[in-house]
Amino acid sequence: SQIPMPLGLYSDRRNSAGFEFGHRDNLERLMARIGQPLPEIAARPLVPGATGATSDEAVLSPADRTHKVGTVRNATPADVDRAFAAGRQGFARWSRTSVEERAATLDKLADLLEADRDRLLALLALEAGKTLDDGVAEIREAVDFCRYYAAQARKQFGEAEVMPGPTGELNRLSWRGRGVFACISPWNFPLAIFLGQVSAALVAGNAVLAKPAPQTPLIAFEAVKLFHKAGVPEDVLMLMPGGGDVGAAMAAHPQLAGIAFTGSTGTAQAINRTLAAKDGPIVPLIAETGGLNAMIVDATALAEQVADDVVMSAFRSAGQRCSALRILYLQEDIADGMLEMIEGAARELNLGNPLEITTDIGPVIDEKQKAMLEAHIAEMKRSQKVRYAGKVPATGNFFAPHIVELDRPEALTKEIFGPVLHVVRWKAKALDQVIASIDATGYGLTLGVHSRIEATIRKVTDALDTGNIYVNRNMIGAVVGTQPFGGSGMSGTGFKAGGPAYLSRFAVEQVISVNT
Ligand code: NAD
Ligand code: ALA
Repeated sequence: SQIPMPLGLYSDRRNSAGFEFGHRDNLERLMARIGQPLPEIAARPLVPGATGATSDEAVLSPADRTHKVGTVRNATPADVDRAFAAGRQGFARWSRTSVEERAATLDKLADLLEADRDRLLALLALEAGKTLDDGVAEIREAVDFCRYYAAQARKQFGEAEVMPGPTGELNRLSWRGRGVFACISPWNFPLAIFLGQVSAALVAGNAVLAKPAPQTPLIAFEAVKLFHKAGVPEDVLMLMPGGGDVGAAMAAHPQLAGIAFTGSTGTAQAINRTLAAKDGPIVPLIAETGGLNAMIVDATALAEQVADDVVMSAFRSAGQRCSALRILYLQEDIADGMLEMIEGAARELNLGNPLEITTDIGPVIDEKQKAMLEAHIAEMKRSQKVRYAGKVPATGNFFAPHIVELDRPEALTKEIFGPVLHVVRWKAKALDQVIASIDATGYGLTLGVHSRIEATIRKVTDALDTGNIYVNRNMIGAVVGTQPFGGSGMSGTGFKAGGPAYLSRFAVEQVISVNT
């Protein structure tokens, strides 16, 4: 039932195994397990001595707003202070543990996640609307982050590095944690991104206050309990449920040593301003943000492959991936035929209950997100051509795949986070203009290129400094240790998640020079 992934490049371990959906017996067993009702989860701040807010809020499933998945009690401003105070004490002990001890807790956590896969899969579907396919991929990514960062920490932080120097002097460079780190995450990868940031910060020797998105506190609550079970002390990793106010209080706190943030570009800019306005130590911000991701298709591209990759990149996961395709540049000679194929493939997509195996696309996360998408389509209808609108189930928070043809690329200037594909036609000799338009957006997260001309591919990849470029394939689903992920410009600061440099910003270097 398990599909072994190719050997990871980063260690002698394999990436986490997948699930063979085509194997009938295994699938039946899985469906029986995830079909069991999940007991309601009551999330609360996991901070020693915390009280939490005076009332609980219901957490409703995006696919069925009458289904209560659990409740959440948010952290208060006093809990933020309490967490920093506890974190200072936790840090004093944790930063002195060996790298091996910290890495071993991540390996243990990876095993616990794999053992708990089916329950997490059901929770990802119920709380975040993840399809089973996406849920399996997300759990695999979370497991891979744990094992990858454990392996990287052993390699990078394990032994002090002896630097070259004059005879009679010993120079050693080592790494240590920064202090109390804030990890602030989005709802669209409520397990993998949440846990990826936290595991990196912990293994580098920091104490962590982890704030999940307000839409997905339950998965985060379960993840933090698994970290504690794996051996991370309760004053070293604390859960801070809440909205932007809790995140802002964490960013403004005088005892903050660093922030890892993933979310929208606007929120990263707000955090940056908060940090810049503070006196005292200069606090690093690791930000992974949005994108206005393009795919360039020329007349030599393989049409069937393009149709498949476009539908996968723009519509799967309901377009709720930062990596998702937003603007498709089609060479005009092939545009009509390609659009017909893409629309035909989009028509086959099945929207519905994410827990059903036949579902291709689940709901969008909440009413606010749905209203934003509806408003965008209404605006596009006024000035552009909406060519295709799919069908949605009668109930639930669904938004159908749409295809909008733009008369010029500048008609779209911001990330639209959902299943809306924008299309622009380009003339055979105008590749430079296409490149200039993509560059002008200021974003640089993902880019797709479909061409069988080597010189075209080289021209595009040389001209743009987009973080992740995918050639003749889809442009989503970066694999830890294989496609380190992250953008530049308005899409993020780096270093790339799941890559060899990621842990560096979570730690400080120290050099000790001894006259021997
Ligand atoms: P968001 O920016 O609204 O929220 C992200 C997190 O920031 C949440 O936990 C939120 O509560 C918190 N927050 C909000 N205001 C804050 C403030 N003033 N100070 C501190 N924290 C604050 O983003 P979202 O809607 O949750 O997620 C979708 C966005 O995330 C999209 O733009 C997507 O492209 C981006 N994203 C990027 C990546 C990447 O790797 N580059 C990955 C996933 C998602
Ligand atoms: N890492 C995720 C992807 O590549 C966001 O789709």
